[in-house]
Amino acid sequence: MLLLSAAAGSSAATAVSALFVFGDSLVDDGNDNELSCLAKANFFPYGIDFPQGAATGRFCNGKTFVDALCDLLGLDYLPPFATTSSLLSGGVNYASAAGGILDETGQHLGDRFSLSQQVLNLESNLETIRSQMRDDEGYHKYLASSIAVMVLGSNDYINNYLLTSLYDSANNYSPEDYADLLINHYSRQILALHSVGLRKFLLAGVGPLGCIPSLRASGGAPLGQCVDQVNQMVGFFNQGLRSLVDQLNANHPGATFLYGNTSNAVYDMLNNPNSYGFTVVDSGCCVLGADGTCEAYAEPCDSRDQHVFWDAYHPTQAANLVLAQRAFNGAQDHVYPLNLQHLARL
Ligand SMILES: *[C@@H]1O[C@H](CO)[C@@H](O)[C@H](O)[C@H]1NC(C)=O
Repeated sequence: MLLLSAAAGSSAATAVSALFVFGDSLVDDGNDNELSCLAKANFFPYGIDFPQGAATGRFCNGKTFVDALCDLLGLDYLPPFATTSSLLSGGVNYASAAGGILDETGQHLGDRFSLSQQVLNLESNLETIRSQMRDDEGYHKYLASSIAVMVLGSNDYINNYLLTSLYDSANNYSPEDYADLLINHYSRQILALHSVGLRKFLLAGVGPLGCIPSLRASGGAPLGQCVDQVNQMVGFFNQGLRSLVDQLNANHPGATFLYGNTSNAVYDMLNNPNSYGFTVVDSGCCVLGADGTCEAYAEPCDSRDQHVFWDAYHPTQAANLVLAQRAFNGAQDHVYPLNLQHLARL
């Protein structure tokens, strides 16, 4: 299936032109706007490890999954859409905290870009990008050798389906039907990106949300355990996403779609923490306030490399580095049907 041609030598090593990122707070690097980034960094110890103490808008102590991917692919860190001006040819990060696949997802949290708006935001940048290319052919080659990284779905559960006091979706859909609904919406936006000329896609599955500190603390499972019911729900979405990847690869020759099995890597970290140097798998590293986010002015814990989770929802930099490594050069049980290293050389 994957036959690297004999000619795929040195020139292929740098074949990725750019990353275009669509997602939520797991990969947001500042689209919640500069002011709130500053406020966040001043009041909460976000971003203390990357870059040291700066306001980055990242929901992490350091690098996100995407920052780690940029390191592995030899690309510069991406500017957030909200602060991009003219130089876009290294890629753009459109991800937005609280955003989801469905437009309504996260609406109680206020301003955010849903997936469909993130795609519109990319479309609004295309003319500028085209103007930076020599000609039409160069532009199309550039898009075809860029990678769209998509990390979505978590909020459609945490800030929609599971939030039954504010959202109706659990009344209207069974877990299976809801997963289908999400996959249908997702598929439409992925095809919109394909139709503007993107040809390489990494679609990250949703992690085992039933194991994040906020859900462990929700009373849905015995102390210290994951909420199995939630992990099962997310499993329907992940199975659907993997099937979508098969379908897209079959129907769109010339394009390549990867499914990243996030759950596999996260379960491995949770079940075998010692082999990664983790000692704490069930609670965040900063001092958590009642709302599950880091407490204002809280001191982050020192052992950030020993925690899988940074706060009640988000992984630490240490966990993000593992996730990125798996996507980059993992076997098919981690990234399917190819890894990013292979994708980059296509
Ligand atoms: C992800 O990996 C796990 C462990 O290998 C496997 O059980 C699961 O079926 C995979 N998920 C998908 C959607 O392929």
